[in-house]
Amino acid sequence: MERLAAYWAEALGGPTTYSDVYGDGTSVLRMHSGNGVHDEMDQRAIACFDQALTDVALSGSDPVRAALHDYFAWTTTTGFARYAESPDEVPKGLSVRQWSWDGLQA
Ligand code: HEM
Repeated sequence: MERLAAYWAEALGGPTTYSDVYGDGTSVLRMHSGNGVHDEMDQRAIACFDQALTDVALSGSDPVRAALHDYFAWTTTTGFARYAESPDEVPKGLSVRQWSWDGLQA
């Protein structure tokens, strides 16, 4: 939980604890790669995430809900889905991608 929290904090513009202490974009991508194509699981994971947002009373019109949903859905369906064959396909040295109110940051 601490590692996940540190990653999310960094990805959303907070302190760089994850990259300083735990890993980088490559190591996290590798943890989520090499499991084949899993579109249905991805959609179910996004639905679970949306339910969790509802559970903490982030309503449909709350901009925080939209930003968190968009970030989770983007990560799940792009980077984490890209290296279906093997974690070894993930390039070395990737940084933690940053997300903000207007989406992916340069
Ligand atoms: C399809 C949805 C997802 C699945 C099935 C999934 C699955 C997993 C699994 C199996 C682990 C390893 C747990 C262990 O330590 O044994 C993990 C760790 C992690 N996941 Fe995911 N994940 C998903 C989505 C995401 C998303 C969207 C993010 C970030 C935006 C994320 C970030 C992380 C991080 C930061 C870790 C821990 C890395 C570390 O231990 O340093 N995951 N995930």
